Amino acid sequence: GHGMADLPQIKKIVLGHYEINTWYIAPYPEEYSCYACIFICEFCLKYIKSAYVAHRHRLKCPLKHPPGDEIYRDGNISIFEVDGRKNKIYCQNLCLLAKMFLDHKTLYYDVEPFLFYILTEVDHEGCHFVGYFSKEKNSAKDYNLSCIMVLPTYQRKGYGHFLTDFSYLLSRKESKLGSPEKPLSDLGLLSYRKYWKTAIFLQLARTSDNVSIADIAHSTGMTFDDVVTTLDEEGIIHTVTTSDGKVEYQLQFDRSDIREYLDRIEAKGQPMAIPDKLRWTPFV
Ligand code: COA
Ligand code: NA
Repeated sequence: GHGMADLPQIKKIVLGHYEINTWYIAPYPEEYSCYACIFICEFCLKYIKSAYVAHRHRLKCPLKHPPGDEIYRDGNISIFEVDGRKNKIYCQNLCLLAKMFLDHKTLYYDVEPFLFYILTEVDHEGCHFVGYFSKEKNSAKDYNLSCIMVLPTYQRKGYGHFLTDFSYLLSRKESKLGSPEKPLSDLGLLSYRKYWKTAIFLQLARTSDNVSIADIAHSTGMTFDDVVTTLDEEGIIHTVTTSDGKVEYQLQFDRSDIREYLDRIEAKGQPMAIPDKLRWTPFV
């Protein structure tokens, strides 16, 4: 006991061209976690103790992109699907890396029941790791996302929004409604709130005034609960009692407010998941 259990011992990682300060403790083996700085291969995610060994590794690492299948490509953005059973070490390394930016417990070793969706930026050197989300192969609760992380060096550029949009695109392809696993972190919740609002406003802008909650759920891939919660937070949903005593939902919204919000979002030019760019069939 050194009395500093809450502070990360590994204070910094060197990954690709970046040095990144860590936020939380990850359970790396003791012979690594005793270093203030470790090196992580941006392609295979192997963790390494010294700059010298990291340099040697770079010369011989055969990977230039994540293992698994490239299932989405749009310009220099590419997403790979990695099966936790087929690429166990890669996925375990990924979970350890993610833990350095996650405040709650997450899995590290039991990766086999999950698929991992790795977002990369592509250039002449290869596919550079940006972030990822994990998803259970068979979720009893229709969770469409288990964990999401964007490296701090790439945060606040819309990549979290893009990965979330991608998770709902997969749900729509599966003809399912999905929701992220709870609890969400503070940043996860902030990011989801904004995503849900944007996804719903896009639908409201496209449809007639008498659009139903079911319509919104099916066109976004969001669960009824998440649709209702978001509409309620925006003051758009109201209950009315009909003449025969039934309680019904009614949506009331101002189209110019919706347009104004969407104009601001679109002005940022953030990437969106384009359905036609997906090459994927659901896991069975
Ligand atoms: N402070 C305040 N709001 C923030 C925020 C911050 N640090 N980071 C994200 N948000 C909110 C903002 O509304 C932001 O939109 P804006 O930049 O237009 O204001 C919105 O979330 C989405 O931002 P975006 O750029 O799409 O997300 P991101 O690429 O930064 O990734 C996370 C979001 C959650 C994936 C990222 O913060 C992360 O990896 N966090 C650590 C891991 C984690 O907590 N994961 C979720 C739990 S599983
Ligand atoms: Na949802």
